[in-house]
Amino acid sequence: MSAAHCFFRSSPSGWTVSLGLQSLQGANPNKVSRNVAKIILHPNYDSMTNNNDIALLRLSSPVRFTDYIRPVCLAASGSVFNNGTDSWVTGWGAVKEGVALPFPQTLQEVEVPVVGNRQCNCLNGVGTVTDNMICAGVLAGGKDSCQGDSGGPMVSKQGSVWVQSGIVSFGFGCAQPNLPGVYSRVSRYQFWIKSRIRSNRPGFVRFISSGLDPDSSYTCPGPLTRPSMSVCGNTLVNSHTGGDKSTVPEGTWPWMVSLHQNGVHKCGGSLISDNVILTTAQCFSTTSPNASEWNVFLGLRLVNGSKEFETSLGVLNITVSKMTGSNIALLELFESVSFNNYIQPVCLDISDSRSFPIGSQCLVTGWENKNNSRGKGAVLQNMKTQVASCGNLSDSDQICTHTMDLQEGGQGSPLLCKSESSWFQVAVVTVCESRLSHGDVDVFTKISRFGSFLKEIIDETPSAATLLTGSSPDFSVSLLIFFAVLIISLFLLS
Ligand code: ARG
Repeated sequence: MSAAHCFFRSSPSGWTVSLGLQSLQGANPNKVSRNVAKIILHPNYDSMTNNNDIALLRLSSPVRFTDYIRPVCLAASGSVFNNGTDSWVTGWGAVKEGVALPFPQTLQEVEVPVVGNRQCNCLNGVGTVTDNMICAGVLAGGKDSCQGDSGGPMVSKQGSVWVQSGIVSFGFGCAQPNLPGVYSRVSRYQFWIKSRIRSNRPGFVRFISSGLDPDSSYTCPGPLTRPSMSVCGNTLVNSHTGGDKSTVPEGTWPWMVSLHQNGVHKCGGSLISDNVILTTAQCFSTTSPNASEWNVFLGLRLVNGSKEFETSLGVLNITVSKMTGSNIALLELFESVSFNNYIQPVCLDISDSRSFPIGSQCLVTGWENKNNSRGKGAVLQNMKTQVASCGNLSDSDQICTHTMDLQEGGQGSPLLCKSESSWFQVAVVTVCESRLSHGDVDVFTKISRFGSFLKEIIDETPSAATLLTGSSPDFSVSLLIFFAVLIISLFLLS
């Protein structure tokens, strides 16, 4: 038994199965190998959602059981794995995100508790974990399966027998805090497995957890319950607010998009409504760019990496502002995107009602190196900085920050500053502006300079979550009405 996503087609040629193996390299006295006679992929395997990620491989001939080669029991339908059930996962996969198992590649094991499906959905993004999946991991991070472990077993012990509860399927990075690994739920496939194996069927054992599953009453905490439609600048899955220059887990900067021209990452950009992307005019060589050459990737972390949570959309049209000095561009998407934990709009600082005084914490997020993006896949980075004085360059249309190490692939990326609990995009990163850094500051053109251009193109931008303060206009209107009514009633009473 393995995972369907390990196989591109169901042709068994080229595959061998090694059993009784301890390490991938070096001597393996107990090793037995077989060719594969048949690969049976689950007919409802969905590579987009990973649903039904299960496959069966028929060996070319039976193997003799030894002390090193024995079948595992499978969780029978109706098995219950409560939140916290002790489980073990084994494999020869990466020992860390991007770090292969070192020589001689000895089989690894990790102990992880089951994380209930409701909680796992809240953490990984509601809707990503179906009833055909089971999650396991420690919320603090640090223990997980990883790339290359796919198809391998997750087992739990009941009495003296080991029962396979899961098949390594997918995860969001590896061992990240609050992102448990996701496994195919073996107990959901008893009927299918039996239907495909006529003789020498596997042993199914009903696994039972005692007591009430704490997951059954679990509801998502905080903002994760309702990815809001009209609120901007919220990070729903944000494990940190940015180190000096650190790679970020998916979903940390959910408005960040990668703009591809003819399939190659060209620029960063930001999602500012459900169908408009903001970037710099520098991405385009002409003032009337050809929209059909461009594609927008949302919910992305690696430029050419993991596809989970990723969406790509075509561009309907591109409008470039035509002011003197540096300009911005707006890309209208073919379709509106639906917001989720990994795709959210950023707030724009158009009205200039918010000021980010000298010393305010800000950051730039972007995919660092354009040249790197074809091969390994550059990882989304964030660079922390602070608002600095523009010195004698001072101009109300500009904002200055302490210098950052900005590179070409980062052009079009947002300069973000936090106000109350929302992230505002204050400027768009352009290459020459940052190269023309004056002394130890980078100079950016403020978004607010393009206020009227932006308002012309987009009817409505999402608004920041408002705190109830006296300065909100609706509140002052209600106060006014309240006092008017009070005075009129006093007048009538007297
Ligand atoms: N899809 C991966 C593979 O092909 C397995 C990833 C498991 N990831 C995790 N975080 N548990 O090997």
